[in-house]
Amino acid sequence: MDYKALSLLFLIFLVSTEARPIEDQATFANVNEIVTEHYELDIFIDFSRKVLSGTNTLYMRRTADSLDVVYLDVWDLNIYQILDQSGNKYEFHIDDPNPNLGQRLSIFIPEDLSTSETFNFTISYETSPDAQAISWLSPEQTSGKKLPYMFTQSEPILARSLAPFQDTPSIKSTYVVNTTTHVQFVTRVSGNMTYDYTDCMIRYSTFEMNIPVQSYLLAIASGNLVERKVGNRTYVITEPEEIEKVANEFSELEDFLS
Ligand SMILES: *[C@@H]1O[C@H](CO)[C@@H](O)[C@H](O)[C@H]1NC(C)=O
Ligand SMILES: *[C@@H]1O[C@H](CO)[C@@H](O)[C@H](O)[C@H]1NC(C)=O
Ligand SMILES: *[C@@H]1O[C@H](CO)[C@@H](O)[C@H](O)[C@H]1NC(C)=O
Ligand SMILES: *[C@@H]1O[C@H](CO)[C@@H](O)[C@H](O)[C@H]1NC(C)=O
Repeated sequence: MDYKALSLLFLIFLVSTEARPIEDQATFANVNEIVTEHYELDIFIDFSRKVLSGTNTLYMRRTADSLDVVYLDVWDLNIYQILDQSGNKYEFHIDDPNPNLGQRLSIFIPEDLSTSETFNFTISYETSPDAQAISWLSPEQTSGKKLPYMFTQSEPILARSLAPFQDTPSIKSTYVVNTTTHVQFVTRVSGNMTYDYTDCMIRYSTFEMNIPVQSYLLAIASGNLVERKVGNRTYVITEPEEIEKVANEFSELEDFLS
């Protein structure tokens, strides 16, 4: 091996062993200073305007010695106000968008709260009709042709277009999602349904995830949906017209899990 090749190899060795902090380049969140432990998303699924509107309450714990700003990931969200549980308003700022990462939402912490152990922010917001994580299908695009249909897909970094989050796999949290729709829609969310109530106009449903998971695993679907059990722990959810086919297709899901 000639000298040049050897020195090149040595250089590659140097570069590859250089100590690098393990950090997610695709988040704006200051996860080394504060972490989300739980969140409660309370949303109205507005099919007529193709938006989700409501609040996301983030239950966060400080890990740095003190804190003067909390950075969150957002993407094309309208942020209306940010309150704590006592109703105090927080000042906030949204940076210009980065075309690959969305925007940084900064929540400014008043000096007298900088050493508070926990921070719970209730953020009132609305998604954009173009939110990248959400697909809105018209009735014509569905099998039943009766109702519109929406579903989300947040991988890899699109949860921030659904709600403000520390949108990085390094943060895992439990959550509760409350959804409100017109009464004819059925909604399902990744998590156990713990409450489902309808009056003559409106359906409210509550879903709970008690296993801490990453923000990109939150999934929401709403439309003319039915559900069928295909194993002890497994269900399929789809339109009535598709349920037979889909149940057959996933009939071995329980075996795969086992
Ligand atoms: C945040 O919420 C948690 C859980 O409900 C509560 O224990 C804590 O006191 C709250 N923190 C603040 C600052 O309100
Ligand atoms: C979610 O709904 C439950 C009822 O199932 C209610 O107790 C809770 O306060 C709601 N949370 C929010 C954030 O709206
Ligand atoms: C759903 O409920 C079951 C039974 O209470 C529980 O064992 C499981 O952990 C829950 N799953 C989630 C995702 O919260
Ligand atoms: C499903 O659950 C029942 C009752 O707990 C059990 O007897 C059966 O073996 C389970 N089947 C599978 C495939 O795990």
